[in-house]
Parts: sequence; structure tokens; C-alpha cells
Amino acid sequence: MIVFSIETSCDETSVCILNDKKEILSHIIHSQTEHIQFGGVVPEIASRAHLQILQKISKKALKDAGILISNIDIFCATCGPGLIGGLLVGSIFAKSLAIGLNKPFVPINHLEGHLLSVTFNNAVKFPFISFLLTGGHTQIYLIRDINNYELLGETLDDAVGEAFDKVAKLLGFSYPGGPEIELFAQHGNKNKYEFTEPLIKQKNLNFSFSGLKTAVSQIVKKNKILNQKIKNDISASFENIVVEILKNKLSMVAESMIKKNIIFNEVSIVGGVAANKQIYNGMSNIAKKYKKNIILPPQYMFSDNAAMIGWACIQKSLIKDFSNINFIANPRMTLGENAK
Ligand code: KG4
Ligand code: ZN
Repeated sequence: MIVFSIETSCDETSVCILNDKKEILSHIIHSQTEHIQFGGVVPEIASRAHLQILQKISKKALKDAGILISNIDIFCATCGPGLIGGLLVGSIFAKSLAIGLNKPFVPINHLEGHLLSVTFNNAVKFPFISFLLTGGHTQIYLIRDINNYELLGETLDDAVGEAFDKVAKLLGFSYPGGPEIELFAQHGNKNKYEFTEPLIKQKNLNFSFSGLKTAVSQIVKKNKILNQKIKNDISASFENIVVEILKNKLSMVAESMIKKNIIFNEVSIVGGVAANKQIYNGMSNIAKKYKKNIILPPQYMFSDNAAMIGWACIQKSLIKDFSNINFIANPRMTLGENAK
């Protein structure tokens, strides 16, 4: 089974050709740089850029893979959640190829792509826990099986990646801010600024990050000149509170699974924020306490990419036929919406 997959839900234009033997025949990720000057993604610019880039990289992907388009068995694309312009460009492009070649088209949920990315490089036993940490989502799932995802908690306001990006903007860093905050934090004092942990009194698995951003903006206002030391200390203190929040949530998940008698071995961290080493180290310490393993996808599947979309398509297609040429991209697509 050879799959051609497309990801265009935000500001990465990506195509991948892979097969059910876990062989990636070609994979191209183009991160749009047009948005840097605006400090965030501009949806209209993103969809126009997807349109232009997709044609070029699709041809190149076939060339890199050394196959003809007629060798593709299934076409798939991210159909949501995400920015509607990009979703329409990617899904209609894939559908057109599928129609022209008389092959199936499988709509894929972007979150499902992230959630299943860890099954590519890890021997995962169901059920497992997943922390989905991206620029648009912060959610905790109990993954019972492919197509069976139970949402345990999520952010009530900003996503964790969004909080990194907003704090980075306040410190004058470029977009996306997560990697720069991590870099500055290495030289800072994580105990310099004390942030209160949001929702500390609520014993559930939800998150809130918008208050932290406001707390940082007040520190920034107080310090008229942001020198290197202040930037380092704010970065380290902010990163530290995020690590603490995630550690506490992981402890709470582990305790609640014990109460519910649900046995699991792995905790995955997926999405762009999974690249953060302090988050990985902090969560690993908690996982060890409960005798669980922290698992990550391959590094090229942390941020948005078409390989995870194609891999989700393969896993689903091996179970049953999820093709649906009539599926219309949905910016608020829910997990399971593409089930027939
Ligand atoms: O999964 P992703 O590529 O896109 C979405 O689906 O949103 O995640 C992008 C997010 C951005 O907010 C970026 O700042 C964050 O991931 N990120 C990081 C790091 N690398 C990327 N956040 C913290 N530490 C990092 N090293
Ligand atoms: Zn994503």
C-alpha cells in the first residue's frame, strides 16, 4: 500500500509518500516564512502560499520517491481542525488527484495524525496516555485503540505552544517562540519569577495558560529595558511553571487511571512542544515514579508534517475502508468525524 499524504492545516506545506512497511519514500516539509514579519500566522497568506508550494513539492516528492503517480494506492489529506483556507487547498488537491487516477481519498484528522505518530517508531501497547501539545491544542487523551480516543482534559483558553509564542513575542523573540524561549531559558534563573499555577484548586485535567501570559506581560511592563539577563530569567521561570503544570497533570492522570483500574505502560508527548527538553525531562521523572515510559515520535513528526498524516491513513486503512471523496474539510473537525 503506497500512500500520498498532504498536510496544510496551518503554516507548514508538506507532502509525503510512504508505504505500509513504514518506509518513507519521500517527505518534504516547507515551513512558510511569510508570517515571520507579522509575529503569527496570517490565514489568507498561508492558503495562497499552500497553493503555490503544493504543486512544486508534490512533483518533487514523486521524483524523490522514484515512482509514478499511478503507483499511488491511496491519497489522503488533513481535513481539520485547522485554518479553512489551507485545509481546502490541501484536501481538494488530494481529491482531484484521487478522482483523476480513480483511487480512494481518505480524510485525516490532524490531531489523529499527531496522536498516532508515536506508533511509527515505538512498539506501543494500547491503551496509552497521550499529551498533545501544539500551537493550537493542549489535550490529554486515553488512547484505547486506533479510532478510539477518550479526551481526559484540555485547555480552557490558550494552547501551551500559543503561550510560548505569546510570551516570546512579549520578549521580542521571533515566531515560533518555543525554541527561542528554550534557548534563553538555559542561561536563566528559573526561580527568579514566581508564577502561580493556574487551576491549582481544581482537581481535573484541564489547563489554562492565558493568565501566565498576562503575568509575564506585567513583568515586562515593570522592566522598561529588557536586557539579556531579564529575558533569560523570564524564559526560564515561564518554562519552569509550564513543566510543573505538565508534571502535576501527569501525576493526576496516573492516579486517576489507578482509581479506574486502567492499566497502561506508555505516556506519549506529541506535537511541536514535544521538542522541549525540560518538558521531556520533567515528565520523565514523574513517569518513572509510576513505572511508565515516556515516548516521543520521530523528531521529523514533532511539528506539522505529512508523514504523520500518511501514517494515520495507513493504520486506519489496514483496519477498514475510511475513504470518502465527499468529505468536506472542517476547521473544527472532531476525532471520529471521518469514521464511516
Ligand atoms: O504541532 P505544531 O508544529 O503546530 C500545531 O499543530 O500547532 O506546534 C507548533 C508549536 C509552536 O507554538 C511552537 O512555539 C512550539 O510548538 N514549539 C515549542 C518548541 N518547539 C516548538 N515550544 C516549546 N519548546 C520548544 N522547543
Ligand atoms: Zn499540529
